[in-house]
Amino acid sequence: MKYYISMIICAVSFLYVQSSFAEKKKQSHDSNIEIFKTVQKKFNIKASADTKKYYAEIDYPDGLRRIDGWFDKHVIILLLVIDDVQAKNNITGNVGEIGVWQGRSFIPLMHLVRQDECALAMDCFELYQFNLDNSGGNMPKLLEMFTNNVKAYCSNFDVLRVIKGNSLELSSHDYLGKMENGKGFRIFSIDGCHEAQATIIDMKNVCECLVPGGVIEIDDYFNPSWPGVSEGVNAFMRENPNRLKPFFIGWNKVFFTHTEYAQLYSDMFKKFFVPQDLTIKKFFNVATLIYDKKP
Ligand SMILES: C[S@@+](CC[C@H](N)C(=O)[O-])C[C@H]1O[C@@H](n2cnc3c(N)ncnc32)[C@H](O)[C@@H]1O
Repeated sequence: MKYYISMIICAVSFLYVQSSFAEKKKQSHDSNIEIFKTVQKKFNIKASADTKKYYAEIDYPDGLRRIDGWFDKHVIILLLVIDDVQAKNNITGNVGEIGVWQGRSFIPLMHLVRQDECALAMDCFELYQFNLDNSGGNMPKLLEMFTNNVKAYCSNFDVLRVIKGNSLELSSHDYLGKMENGKGFRIFSIDGCHEAQATIIDMKNVCECLVPGGVIEIDDYFNPSWPGVSEGVNAFMRENPNRLKPFFIGWNKVFFTHTEYAQLYSDMFKKFFVPQDLTIKKFFNVATLIYDKKP
């Protein structure tokens, strides 16, 4: 008898945990959809069906749909704002990322691709000998995992271009040469090897293939675990004065663009956030917007 009672208690607790877990997932999905609706309504910013689905599901805890990585989903909204500024100012070109890992931060870039544009994914993937700082660890089937994730969330899979190799051995010609449309890049995220020398090379290459008004998104600049990133960015900025300016810092990203376009982006971000959520500090000699609220 005792045995049956404890079995029943176990079963009931299991069902309770299951249902509250499902309810939590549903709430998180619904609140994510709400955020999108608000953003779209207020700023008339278009997000594709793919983006909405991804935003709602990116942090689902169940294995298949969750995409692991180091990318805060709020950055997706920042990317939509940047994309909107670019659309309104005829800034066109490809999008790309160095250091895609499983695709968590790359997939939102794929969603921004417009007609006649492509998306470039650059990573050493399972060529672990090139992963000098062990970022992301050693994953034997990383390229396959990445490709499957992109397929699952991007209905425009055909625009994907991949370079598998060592970014330290590449030049901007390799990136541009991979894009058969002959266009430069309008958004490029840098999140590969976090050592200083690698950061300098990646920044130099990306800077050389950026279209006028294009944006470079740097990960981990303020992350104390990866001091090589700020060391590399600072060295690049010293050697290339007045070429790029930062315009926004938030969610572990720093966004740069060509000096003459920085105001364009920061004006839009100022409209986008409520003023009390932003601070403005001089950074590389320019007034830069900072979102530093704890989640
Ligand atoms: C921190 S992970 C990227 C995370 C990803 N952007 C995200 O948000 O989920 C860094 C990536 O850089 C890649 N990587 C490291 N060194 C590299 C190199 N020398 N060339 C190309 N990719 C490299 C690693 O394979 C790994 O996938």
